[in-house]
Amino acid sequence: MTNYTIHNFDEIDSTMNYAKQLAENGCENFTVVTAKIQKNGRGRLERKWFSEQGGLYFTVVLKPKIAMDKAFVYNFAASLAIAATLKQLFKIDAKLKWPNDVHISGKKICGILSEIKIDKDKIDYFNIGIGLNVNNQNFSSEINSVSVKQLTEKRESAIKILKTFLINFEKKTDPKRFDKIISEWKQNNITIGGFVKVKTVNKTIEGAAIDIDRSGALVIVTDNFTVKKVICGDCFHD
Ligand code: BTN
Repeated sequence: MTNYTIHNFDEIDSTMNYAKQLAENGCENFTVVTAKIQKNGRGRLERKWFSEQGGLYFTVVLKPKIAMDKAFVYNFAASLAIAATLKQLFKIDAKLKWPNDVHISGKKICGILSEIKIDKDKIDYFNIGIGLNVNNQNFSSEINSVSVKQLTEKRESAIKILKTFLINFEKKTDPKRFDKIISEWKQNNITIGGFVKVKTVNKTIEGAAIDIDRSGALVIVTDNFTVKKVICGDCFHD
């Protein structure tokens, strides 16, 4: 296993902001930033990520040497590694919801936010931020959520979860099996095959989710049989 550098904070504005500074200043691949509390935790689509004590909040800085249109695979690998970790440690059966959520019986347990910097057509860094509900009791309000503690009915160690995640994530992102990630994600997802409403910053697309294409976009067939692809958005299942 890689010898990770981990920066731990009791409190921070957002692990994404600190990770960005580290990445800009040339930190190593797989540098990790964790915080017990985030004062300004950030979610996807410019939402807040409520981050009280008890949850697991961290960002991994990656410096991948891959084509920039393949970077999204790391997001899928991260959600798969979270699902594998929950299964391994707690026998929790997690499913993946496009684009980056981990769900347990329809309730969100984990959200993933990523930020990329491209320099001259190459990835300079790709930061993946993960918020997992562990022992925290309050969740980002607008979503139907659940925590590890609610499922196991006892307090669980966030550090143990982080360590197991990092091992699983490293295995999943091994270049030798990188190509398998999309099919593995598809096998564990709850989005394809259902009816969805995807809200992007400026439009909403409704229809049957039929696939994920090679760029990670969700392929939707609308009511008038038009095929649409969405690369990023909030996905609601019917
Ligand atoms: C989502 O909207 O579902 C993504 C939530 C991502 C939250 C994590 S917590 C650690 C990292 N720091 C942040 O400010 N956000 C991400």
